[in-house]
Amino acid sequence: MIGDRILVVDDEKAIREGLRRILTGEGYEVELSDSGYSALEKLQAMDFQAVITDLKMPGMDGMEVLKSISILQPNVPVIFITGYSTLDNAVEVMKMGAFDYIPKPFTADLILEKVEKALEHRAIFLEEHSPAHQLTERMGGCEKIVGKSEAMERVCRRIQQVAPTDSTVLITGESGTGKDLVAQAVHQMSHRRTRPFIAIDCTSLVETLLESELFGHVKGSFTGATQTKMGLFKVADGGTLFLDEVSNISPSIQAKLLRVLQERVITPVGGTAPMEIDIRLIAATNRDLKDMVARGEFREDLFYRLNIVPIHLPTLRERIEDLPILINHFLRIHSEEIGKEIRGLSPASMAILKQYPFPGNIRELENIIERAVVLAKEEVIQPGDLEVTEFMAGEFPSCADRVPESAEELKVMKKKLREEAVLPLEKAFLIKALERNDWNVTRAADEVGMLRPNFQALLKRHGISCSRS
Ligand SMILES: Nc1ncnc2c1ncn2[C@@H]1O[C@H](COP(=O)(O)OP(=O)(O)OP(=O)(O)O)[C@@H](O)[C@H]1O
Ligand SMILES: [Mg+2]
Repeated sequence: MIGDRILVVDDEKAIREGLRRILTGEGYEVELSDSGYSALEKLQAMDFQAVITDLKMPGMDGMEVLKSISILQPNVPVIFITGYSTLDNAVEVMKMGAFDYIPKPFTADLILEKVEKALEHRAIFLEEHSPAHQLTERMGGCEKIVGKSEAMERVCRRIQQVAPTDSTVLITGESGTGKDLVAQAVHQMSHRRTRPFIAIDCTSLVETLLESELFGHVKGSFTGATQTKMGLFKVADGGTLFLDEVSNISPSIQAKLLRVLQERVITPVGGTAPMEIDIRLIAATNRDLKDMVARGEFREDLFYRLNIVPIHLPTLRERIEDLPILINHFLRIHSEEIGKEIRGLSPASMAILKQYPFPGNIRELENIIERAVVLAKEEVIQPGDLEVTEFMAGEFPSCADRVPESAEELKVMKKKLREEAVLPLEKAFLIKALERNDWNVTRAADEVGMLRPNFQALLKRHGISCSRS
């Protein structure tokens, strides 16, 4: 907040002055100290809302400043600036209770972003510890998850039950149903919320990298391992590790993950000594892991270890009654962001969306609304602003006039719509992509911007088989 007072500690004048300029430019009040000792004096004399300190300083270093702050002004977030930006250093300072770290050289934007986050974190912390909040905390916590349907209320209740525990959670649901959002809510509502939330997308890394990324490696353990590296399991120590798209991990990593879950220790690649870890694991997948187990593609024992507390997210079609509040939610966000006054959707636009099958679920709805806000020429969104209209026009030329009058009719129309329009569209899309890529699945998936397993699943749904992959 403008007017918040920030203490900057650095033995280098240029850095002190640079930070002063950046921060005062945004309206913060800034105090400078050229050493840890001078910082101590300031901390005894006045209150601060955040501290930015260098790590390596002669005399009293940043770590000692941090220790003093935790006694003199506990709850003040401390951000480290370090020229020695190895992960080990960062892990060390985070473990000591630092809020964040910034490697040198840094940009003004990065500094401001981290300071803003630190101040926000402090405000939330103070709010959370107010007596009024402690009462409501047990009830709420799902504010970011919009939805009033029975299915979403069940999801929220499950989150509230599981968040305070350390149990492993498996979140399932189609793409775009909110798995990331739920993982973050579980972390935010747990006692680990002030510790790191580390998310890793298991599809984005090749096997050897994933292993060293997760468990760390010892210097020299493979070509390119020029330094010992701390794995994400260790970085997340005390916090939450979110393994996204967990169905994509290889059998050998599945075996290692099982061991971590059983024994709560990790062994870095090339290392021999196991290290104890304290993390809460959350995994997510849009595939049917049980089915993968049945087909021998996923270890059964690991599945049971991950599936301690399952949270299944319904598709948007299964909770279509949430459509109006979701639309309002995204309208508010995007009209504010884009700076347009949009009052709502015309009844015809709403009717179109109510019939649309939303294969991409809430993410797709959000994209449709965002584009509609950009395209809207009036205060009310018209069918022409919805990029689904063209698609709808084929089978239902006047779908706006054909609003179903009963739940049963809606169901029948949706099914018909899907069969007659979406399926051929999907099939044509797949075949064209494959043709352009000489029927090579990997390249075709790549070209259209889909993850290979998702592309493959779509092929399977349409009974398209390719010998080349
Ligand atoms: N119930 C909800 N309320 C508000 N926003 C939501 C809700 N569910 C999802 N979203 C929003 O929709 C988008 C997609 O959600 P998210 O990334 O959590 O989906 P996902 O299930 O992880 O998808 P994927 O399988 O593709 O990774 C995000 O922008 C998210 O904030
Ligand atoms: Mg996701």
